[in-house]
Amino acid sequence: MILVVGGAGYIGSHVVKELVETEDVVVLDNLSTGHRAAVDSRAIFVKGDLGNVDDVLMVFRSYPIKAVMHFAAYSLVGESVVDPLKYYQNNMASTITLLKVMMRFKVKRFIFSSTAATYGIPDVELIDETSATMPINPYGRSKLMVEQVLADLATSDGLNYVILRYFNAAGAHESSSIGESHDPETHLIPIILQQLLGQREKISIYGADYDTPDGTCIRDYIHVTDLANAHILALKALLTGKKGAEIYNLGNGLGFSVKEVIETCEKVTGVKANVEIADRRAGDPARLVASSDKIFSELGWKAERNLEKIIADSWKWHQKQQY
Ligand code: UFG
Repeated sequence: MILVVGGAGYIGSHVVKELVETEDVVVLDNLSTGHRAAVDSRAIFVKGDLGNVDDVLMVFRSYPIKAVMHFAAYSLVGESVVDPLKYYQNNMASTITLLKVMMRFKVKRFIFSSTAATYGIPDVELIDETSATMPINPYGRSKLMVEQVLADLATSDGLNYVILRYFNAAGAHESSSIGESHDPETHLIPIILQQLLGQREKISIYGADYDTPDGTCIRDYIHVTDLANAHILALKALLTGKKGAEIYNLGNGLGFSVKEVIETCEKVTGVKANVEIADRRAGDPARLVASSDKIFSELGWKAERNLEKIIADSWKWHQKQQY
């Protein structure tokens, strides 16, 4: 059985939906930001808190866990600057609780959700896994700290792990049964689509004076189903003993500016956006684009869904959003 911590969240729920096709799955989630309705009915759901050792012990005593996927984290860069302890507590300390229980039950396979925020402000066009990790906010640091703990546990306890550093996760399941639903929503694509649906008055572009061709920030958007498929391959690698301690970037390798994303949303939906230029948002690097060559050459994964597909699936979801 596979334990998915944070399986009711945006990315976790999309992974669970793929995972239940081949594995027995138990989801542990406190529903602080996740949604019960997002969890596939074929998975067992346990409401519990990663920071509460009794909740975690109960799951390990009740189910024969052979591997753990860990998605339960706070992920808002701005909030992490204002309230760092919230991030170190939840993203770092709670993960230690989970890892302690895993070691006690001799569960040695772990897949960890990490982030492009571990790189900080990169000095290369395409970021690969050897690029320097110098996070510029507590969110990125909390993730990098866990990465370092995992490396130490590989040495001390023989932990086998795969760290996946996501770039900009976006889109929704093709069926529209699950999708992105944050409160408050801070991510670009859902904000644009909400405006196109008349749920927001306008879209603010956070800065048009960056050192990029059109002055707006460039990001690498990756479809959440492509992300999910990478997790399935990483798990397979761990279960077959192929991989022990690896870090992989997950991106498309293509950068789109905020203006280009807005234009593509207008093209895909046929609706005109109401846009204003606003001040820069603190902590935004000008450009973050991944090289995902390593996971392609080692596990055969590459992103298969482009920006149009991301937006089309997201648009379908937002039109009939169920939670
Ligand atoms: N943006 C706007 N207006 C908005 C929202 C976003 O202009 O209303 C811009 C941002 O400034 C940024 C781009 O759109 O340039 C993308 O912003 P998102 O908030 O969608 O995503 P981020 O790149 O800030 O964040 C993502 C993940 C984080 C992760 C980070 C790594 O959501 O968890 O990448 O840098 F930490």
